Amino acid sequence: MRKKLVVGNWKMHGSRAANAQLLAGLKEAGPWNADVAVCVPAVYIAETALALTGTAIAYGAQDCSSHEQGAYTGEISSAMLHDVGCRYAIVGHSERRAYHAESDQLVADKAKAALAHGVTPIVCVGETRAEREAGQTEAVVKRQLAAVIHTLGHCTGEMVVAYEPVWAIGTGLTATPEQAQAVHAVLRAQLQAATDRAAAMRILYGGSVKADNAPQLFGQPDIDGGLIGGASLKVADFAAICLAAAH
Ligand code: 13P
Repeated sequence: MRKKLVVGNWKMHGSRAANAQLLAGLKEAGPWNADVAVCVPAVYIAETALALTGTAIAYGAQDCSSHEQGAYTGEISSAMLHDVGCRYAIVGHSERRAYHAESDQLVADKAKAALAHGVTPIVCVGETRAEREAGQTEAVVKRQLAAVIHTLGHCTGEMVVAYEPVWAIGTGLTATPEQAQAVHAVLRAQLQAATDRAAAMRILYGGSVKADNAPQLFGQPDIDGGLIGGASLKVADFAAICLAAAH
């Protein structure tokens, strides 16, 4: 049985005051019988680390550089993330693929850089609405995951995968549990062909996960938790989702 993992992706939200309130609320609401983490804007990682000291809540970043170090203005290396205690780094979020032109190969290189420094990459894959309507969902997610598997090789089993259909992100439209499970089963089979650790790997669902739809989603055999956007910014909502993952 895989222990569920719930990750809050704060995206570009927050302030020192708001974060302190949110983290204090989560500390009070937990712990849960699930792994829980928050991926915060990079400038707030250090304060998040302090706020979460002594709790079971992990923290991470929303991106990392594919480079080791050097003249890459504005970039943050995975060695730096590890240095400040990050357990996770989201890579290949659809917002970065879309707004920062991140290719499948760049995402794979970022995942490799993260693993090289002891940071677990949460690799996001997902189709757009047009791709789903054209019947390309399976082909798209397999292509995105294949680039990562090819680049990581025998380390593939160390990552977390997140299926986030682009049409479900921030829209209030959620994939039905059956739609999500169907894609998760495809991803699991692809991982199984690549690593003998596939059965232990967590595949998260993301896209308008809320307290009321989380139990059904998390009840699917291949959905091992969630990557939560909007609902991770409110203590009660995020705590309820973590609770749903604990059953
Ligand atoms: P929402 O939960 O706001 O739809 O965002 C999902 C997401 O993109 C998490 O990475």
